[in-house]
Amino acid sequence: MISPETIRNIIETARIEEVIGEFVTIKKRGVNYIGLCPFHNEKTPSFTISPSKGIYKCFGCGKAGNAVNFIMEHEHYSYPEAIKYLAKKYNIEIEEEEQTPEQIQALNEKESLYHVSTFAQKHFSDNLFNNDEGKAIGLSYLKERDFSEETIKKFQLGYSLDKWDKFTEYALNNGYKLDYLTKTGLTISKENKNYDRFRARVIFPIHNLSGRIIGFGGRILTSEKNKPKYINSPESDIYNKSKVLYGIYFAKNAIININNCYLVEGYTDVISLHQAGINNVVASSGTSLTTEQIRLIKRYTPNITILYDGDEAGIKASFRGIDMILEQSMNVKIVLFPEGEDPDSFARNHRTSEVNEFINNKARDFIEFKTNLLLKETADDPLKKASLIKEIVNTISLIPDSIYRSVYIKKCSSMLDIPEQTLMNELNKILRNKFKKKHQTTFEEIPESTEFTAEKQIDVEINESEYQEKDIIRLLLLYGTKEIIFEIENEDKHIDKVPVKVSQFIINDLKADNISFQNKLYQLIFNEFVSALEDDFIPDDQFFINHKDEKISKLSIDIISSKYELSKNWEEKKSIYTETEEQKLKETVITSLLALKAKKIDIIILENQKEISKAENDEEIVILLEKQKSLKNISKIINAQLGRIITK
Ligand code: UTP
Ligand code: MN
Repeated sequence: MISPETIRNIIETARIEEVIGEFVTIKKRGVNYIGLCPFHNEKTPSFTISPSKGIYKCFGCGKAGNAVNFIMEHEHYSYPEAIKYLAKKYNIEIEEEEQTPEQIQALNEKESLYHVSTFAQKHFSDNLFNNDEGKAIGLSYLKERDFSEETIKKFQLGYSLDKWDKFTEYALNNGYKLDYLTKTGLTISKENKNYDRFRARVIFPIHNLSGRIIGFGGRILTSEKNKPKYINSPESDIYNKSKVLYGIYFAKNAIININNCYLVEGYTDVISLHQAGINNVVASSGTSLTTEQIRLIKRYTPNITILYDGDEAGIKASFRGIDMILEQSMNVKIVLFPEGEDPDSFARNHRTSEVNEFINNKARDFIEFKTNLLLKETADDPLKKASLIKEIVNTISLIPDSIYRSVYIKKCSSMLDIPEQTLMNELNKILRNKFKKKHQTTFEEIPESTEFTAEKQIDVEINESEYQEKDIIRLLLLYGTKEIIFEIENEDKHIDKVPVKVSQFIINDLKADNISFQNKLYQLIFNEFVSALEDDFIPDDQFFINHKDEKISKLSIDIISSKYELSKNWEEKKSIYTETEEQKLKETVITSLLALKAKKIDIIILENQKEISKAENDEEIVILLEKQKSLKNISKIINAQLGRIITK
């Protein structure tokens, strides 16, 4: 665990504009910076950074946060990973704090899985070079495939012996726990017997982004029909198949430099291309491409080129996967290899320059490629052509950027020999339907309680102090450290001006009336103020922006940045709106407190009403009616006070 002091130090040192500036081109505009939002597609910048507050906010998509949130969101890092990233950037040494036994266990468990995986890799590699069976069968196979010794060592390939439990036994003898062996899937335990998952196979270790081994693939060397050609490690705490790409550790720098990522089918294609000096290659290996894998690539480049061997049925099967890439606003190209060749064999049979030339010459834009392929199939069948048009336009509709969409409509119009307007109409129809669907689903998400049966209506009302509660939290966050002046008559009939901090006033007032928040998050923030004030410390906005509880920090950032949003102009330091709110701070605070109390009373009155209708005997009813009367009185008084202020 990183100590809180270190975290504070890192957060205080990090300049948000420097942190974001590494990923986004930003320009100074007044006291702020603006740029194109990295989280959604836009042409005009609405992504704004406030260096003085240490926060960013996109007024287009609503994403907001501090420097740590940005790194987490943009790099898909966990909180500790983001903190470590910033520490490295600013050369801050990380002081680790002592951990609880549970923390140590969780961390140790993951660490143990890594350790046992590395141990297995070493064992398999050792078999390949030092064991007779390994050399005779494994190594000679890999050499036959033209894998050089250098390549074999770089990818840490290996061989598992043709024995039932050779590896498991070896690992147990070396002190590795059976638990970790089964959790990584290296060992299969059945009916009190343990045996090796990988037997008599060449082994391809799978590396994560930082090069640690998280799993394995194993290829069979015999041609037994009843056994799968490849088997893979099962998922574990360190191996999540949908999030990892085979070869990414070795490819990431080349992907950035070349600004393109080649996507191939599997282990052997990745390795052969690397051996040929083409390093920007990864494979999704076995599973179909996932959104997480696409986003992983997008961290390094917006361009993907898919390298296919020439089987048309296989290509059509993967169209859906490619649609997903378009949805992530990436550019997709397709390279088709000659019949009977895959990237692996092609790379082995050609010089590197030829491979590069082939890829560059044959790369086709995906939508053009798909259109052509389907067009070939329809021949002159008008019905088929109609469904082809739908299919293509559907794919185009997935592209988030409207300009790109219209470019493709134009292109396809000439390829299909269909007027542009016809395609445009079809596109708009699809987009409209999508829009409708989206709204339908949000409609369905509205809880059932919106059906207004009498009882449910009360439930709905009960949560209605949300707005008033939020307003109080907003005032605490924005003006908690500001002072409001109260005029108090002293003993000599003189007027004393007494300054009180806004947070102090709100906390005392609500505590006196025993008012709590329905919204748990607001209550948490309120509690933070209470305990801080008990320590004679008034927390400012930075305290909440950088709060260790992510939910609190997120909400605070949203509320604080909405101050600027309300003013519709982040560039001016103070807008007219906030100016007046600040000038009339005392009134604002008192009004908001009264409004919350009025609402709370209304809720209690409603609840009491419910009690009355359920009451069983006269005595009970009388008591409840008495209560109702005094509640209504209080409500009247509060509302009268409110009215005086508002109409003043
Ligand atoms: P191949 O069938 O070409 O595998 O699949 P290979 O090892 O290159 O076999 P040969 O020598 O051409 O016959 C290409 C890639 O697809 C993945 C592997 O990663 C392989 O490298 N694959 C293939 C699997 O994951 N599982 C399979 O059952 C088959
Ligand atoms: Mn192959």
